[in-house]
Amino acid sequence: MDPTTTPAWERLSELAAAGTIDLRATFAADPGRVERLSFTAADLHVDLSKNLVDDEVLAALLQLAREVGVEERRDAMFAGEHINVTEDRAVLHTALRKPAGSSLEVDGVDVVAEVHATLKQVYAFADQVRSGAWTGVTGRPIETVVNIGIGGSDLGPVMAYEALKPYRHERIECRFISNIDPTDAAETLAGLDPETTLFIVASKTFGTLETLTNARLCRTWLLDGLGDPPGAVARHFVAVSTALDKVEAFGIDPANAFGFWDWVGGRYSVDSAIGTSLAVAIGPERFAELLAGFHAIDEHFRTTPLERNVPALMGLLNVWYVNFLGAQSHAVLPYAQSLHRFAAYLQQLTMESNGKGVRWDGAPVTTDTGEIFWGEPGTNGQHAFYQLIHQGTRLIPADFIAVANPAHPLTDTHDGQTVDVHELYLANFFAQTKALAFGKTADEVHAEGTAEAIVPARVFTGNRPTTSVMAPELSPSVLGQLIALYEHITFTQGVVWGIDSFDQWGVELGKQLALQITPAVGGDQDALATQDPSTRALIDYYRKHRRP
Ligand code: F6P
Repeated sequence: MDPTTTPAWERLSELAAAGTIDLRATFAADPGRVERLSFTAADLHVDLSKNLVDDEVLAALLQLAREVGVEERRDAMFAGEHINVTEDRAVLHTALRKPAGSSLEVDGVDVVAEVHATLKQVYAFADQVRSGAWTGVTGRPIETVVNIGIGGSDLGPVMAYEALKPYRHERIECRFISNIDPTDAAETLAGLDPETTLFIVASKTFGTLETLTNARLCRTWLLDGLGDPPGAVARHFVAVSTALDKVEAFGIDPANAFGFWDWVGGRYSVDSAIGTSLAVAIGPERFAELLAGFHAIDEHFRTTPLERNVPALMGLLNVWYVNFLGAQSHAVLPYAQSLHRFAAYLQQLTMESNGKGVRWDGAPVTTDTGEIFWGEPGTNGQHAFYQLIHQGTRLIPADFIAVANPAHPLTDTHDGQTVDVHELYLANFFAQTKALAFGKTADEVHAEGTAEAIVPARVFTGNRPTTSVMAPELSPSVLGQLIALYEHITFTQGVVWGIDSFDQWGVELGKQLALQITPAVGGDQDALATQDPSTRALIDYYRKHRRP
């Protein structure tokens, strides 16, 4: 169904043309707005009231969701139908977090049983490393786990590790190598002791140039450091992949490899064995809590009527902003330092999923798709780019995320007064969404005694939309809930646009060309001659300036 041909699309176009609602006026006229537009999904409290919607817009968005079949597509995903059409695959990251004892048969196989068999292996390995029973080749327990992976095999594990650091085993630190820039491996390995370092090579395909190159660099570093004793690779390297044959060919003992399945997209895989580094750091019990958090939101998304379905509503709001109000980007602003990699993680989740120009039947899309997601934790962002959100000319919908209880409750005593620093932090969280919504009028600026000439510069128009997401604390479960929330927001948008949110052909061309260009960079004149003039000139520059 082309969304632009639906009656709901026409209605939404009319509503957008009729003018944007005014948040100040709407809040003043409608005392029930906040209650009506606040929702609960598992432990998440979500306030949508500061969005540029009224009941009519919301009703039309819900109608749109029904007309394009969001619910049917969602049910097809949960049932394991091959909704990843260009790769002819099921899309079953939701099966990764189904509780033990449940079942889901897909293509003749009970995938939940397979998931739990692998989890058992990952948990047993994590327990061994944590207890010290798993040692390096010289008999010392592991102190550093280095995850080698890129994209979904890196962003999820690093984001979740950073978010859940307060729960990590005190002896075990995780580090992450992703970039093929040799600086990444060199700086990550600096200062590590090979005797106590364990590498996890994480790659769905086990064919990714960056990851395999980095894995070889690390193997050399390890063997050089240890003097190449027999059995060193087996004690210091494990792997996570869907291609276990390639793992073996790399020299990693298949007994130390954890599998997953082609129905898990890379960017949806942090809750599979790809999260092994995290499972080691926080332990099986906490990892299971993370999975339970994911599952709670899956169940909310699967069973809650669209009118109260938080991921569906947030996805539809994004469609409203992108397709009807012209937003090109979306900020995600966690007021939790532990979520400092969350926006980077979401960039792959949302933009690799919905950055598409072709519909699932091969026809060109009929509307704009995937907006740019970006963000930084508050309050750092406040002192960097918030100016543009407050007073710039672009519409930037923003999600603000905060928790009631900090991981590190600290107080600051100053001038005889003691302040809870988390409260100072949250005051900023509340203040920002308030300022964005309600702004500051010229009269208010005047009333402060501001000189006439600079009143315009100090006016805040307000009416800048935000969603506030709050939770009791950043526990493993809440992190799982937040990730699943954004997975299903992304899904909802993809269904409205009629695109396959689960393939990523767009990243292939650059990868292929890099392989073709490598000989030219190394000096092969024939290969150089086949390049376009600009690429040739750039390679020439490199070769002239590279020191021997
Ligand atoms: O960037 C493209 C991509 O295919 C991602 O989708 C994936 O997460 C990443 O590369 C890494 O792939 P792999 O896990 O197979 O090494």
